[in-house]
Amino acid sequence: MWDGPGGQAALNCKEALPAAFQHVWTLGADGRTEPLSFHDLGCGYGSLLVLAHVLKGTQNFNISTATGTEIRADLHDAFMRWLHDFQEAAPLFATAVDDIRRSFILADMISPDAVAVQTAVRQADIIWCNNMLFPPELNAAVANMLRQCMSARAVVVSTAELQCMEQGTPLELRTQNRFMFPPDSMSWTGNAVPGFMSRLTTRVHDHGNGRDDHTAPRRDVARDRTRRRQSRTSRAQAIGS
Ligand SMILES: C[S@@+](CC[C@H](N)C(=O)[O-])C[C@H]1O[C@@H](n2cnc3c(N)ncnc32)[C@H](O)[C@@H]1O
Repeated sequence: MWDGPGGQAALNCKEALPAAFQHVWTLGADGRTEPLSFHDLGCGYGSLLVLAHVLKGTQNFNISTATGTEIRADLHDAFMRWLHDFQEAAPLFATAVDDIRRSFILADMISPDAVAVQTAVRQADIIWCNNMLFPPELNAAVANMLRQCMSARAVVVSTAELQCMEQGTPLELRTQNRFMFPPDSMSWTGNAVPGFMSRLTTRVHDHGNGRDDHTAPRRDVARDRTRRRQSRTSRAQAIGS
């Protein structure tokens, strides 16, 4: 039953499969070989979160930390119960399970008060958001949160575009790569579903073609702004003298 934009589809927790995680990781790592931090925005029952913890340090997955945010308390509680049962059945893994338990953040990812989410997003190198069924206003709010919190080195992989193009802001979240997940990557369909890879870009030169020609980290934006201010001041002084 379609309950998409306007309905409750955004809260549908259908999960991605390991094939999708492999794709997200490879695209998000983008050739980087150092340990990378993963965050799942809207992590549902936490299946990809557990997978990321299990794969930590294995060949091809140099995962330093894995965290996830979920708004639905029932999913969080089900995950906690599952972890509890697993811990009882396998006490040898108690410390590892504690680590996974702490990595699940129960919060609204777009709430300005969700400090734990903002911190996790700030630290993340690869951010996954399975947002195909999010309504446009939620996607816009997520994009805005990412623009404010994510680091310049981070890559966002999503199933719907996360574009933030507020007028007058120097930093934007821009899709740079569209692709298709392989068939059988998602639990709800055997079909290939679309994927998007986005980064923060800086609007420096827009030669009227609506596209950025330049990508720069956040600190460069502040530096450029300071330089522009200094050069305006010295021009004003030169005119005044
Ligand atoms: C399609 S599921 C994705 C589950 C998992 N990440 C995956 O890839 O399979 C989307 C999840 O986002 C959660 N969600 C929706 N809005 C949210 C919000 N504002 N804050 C946190 N989670 C949210 C939903 O409850 C749902 O569990």
